[in-house]
Amino acid sequence: MSELNKIALKILSGGKGILAADESTATMTKRLNSVNVKSNENNRLNFRETLFSSTSMKECIGGVILYDETIKQKTSSGKSIPELINSSGSEVGIKVDTGAKVLAGSTEEKITEGLDGLREKLKDYYKIGARFTKWRAVYLISDSFPSDLAIATNAHALARYAALVQEAGMVPIIEPEVLMDGNHSAKDCLSKTSVVIKKCYEELDLNKVDLKGTILKPNMVLSGTNSKEKITSEEIAELTLKCLKNSVPREVPGIAFLSGGQTEVEATLNLNEINLKNNTNFIMTYSYGRALQQSALKFWSKDVNNKLGTQDIFNHRAKMCTLAAQGKWSENLENSK
Ligand code: 13P
Repeated sequence: MSELNKIALKILSGGKGILAADESTATMTKRLNSVNVKSNENNRLNFRETLFSSTSMKECIGGVILYDETIKQKTSSGKSIPELINSSGSEVGIKVDTGAKVLAGSTEEKITEGLDGLREKLKDYYKIGARFTKWRAVYLISDSFPSDLAIATNAHALARYAALVQEAGMVPIIEPEVLMDGNHSAKDCLSKTSVVIKKCYEELDLNKVDLKGTILKPNMVLSGTNSKEKITSEEIAELTLKCLKNSVPREVPGIAFLSGGQTEVEATLNLNEINLKNNTNFIMTYSYGRALQQSALKFWSKDVNNKLGTQDIFNHRAKMCTLAAQGKWSENLENSK
């Protein structure tokens, strides 16, 4: 087994998942402002340190994705953030793209940037403890989107990123996110997500990326937020599995979904259903940002010194997601708190 495959399996196995805490400063500022907390370095660190020192880290969280600011911060006791994360047996991840910018030739679609100077940046992140990375491509969905141009350019960038990350001894998370916004049907989401993912694997193959040392982070197959169509979690699971079975090569060890605007419970219920029906060889788990942090953030904002209360909420969410990653979640357990 290769070293990269070992890292990927360590992050994803046994119901463990990923805590995506890599919001850029601009995004974190939006999140903090939405709960009336000032966004400064100290508050951003305080909230994140509170989560990373929760008891559920050990049993539930196989990896934490950080933003550049956080990976270089120290906790109140003087430990570095990577040391704190490693102390619970969890791997340190780092977001390495520099964000999605308007794609030349389009007014609305985006291309994710960050390849320039990436090789050097990766060496530094490895030295301070990172063992996996993230790069997110975003795709609009409508009758005419995503365009062939957005599909091709983002797949190309994801593949070049992944090759550089493996060269630096880390596991790349490949995140092609077809957004939920729009009035599309789940069937449209299925066909467009499939095209997007297949193109990524075409480019990954061309760039000689070892798929056993990668993690795919896709969206679930859902109907658009403005669509009148209402589908059940069973249908979501069936369509999502159909999509992944047909577009992801068997060598990929695991898939860690993003929550992408689903509520905490929706993201948990849908993941549970996916695992109950999982007829693939892939581990199916979570790499959630909002669906792990939302309630904890709300609670913390009322009293930023109430560490234990905040952790209590985060622990419950992490446990529910870890149960869902094994198909063992239930509404009773969800409401047992
Ligand atoms: P959400 O789960 O909030 O979609 O965040 C996951 C993520 O890392 C998006 O890039």
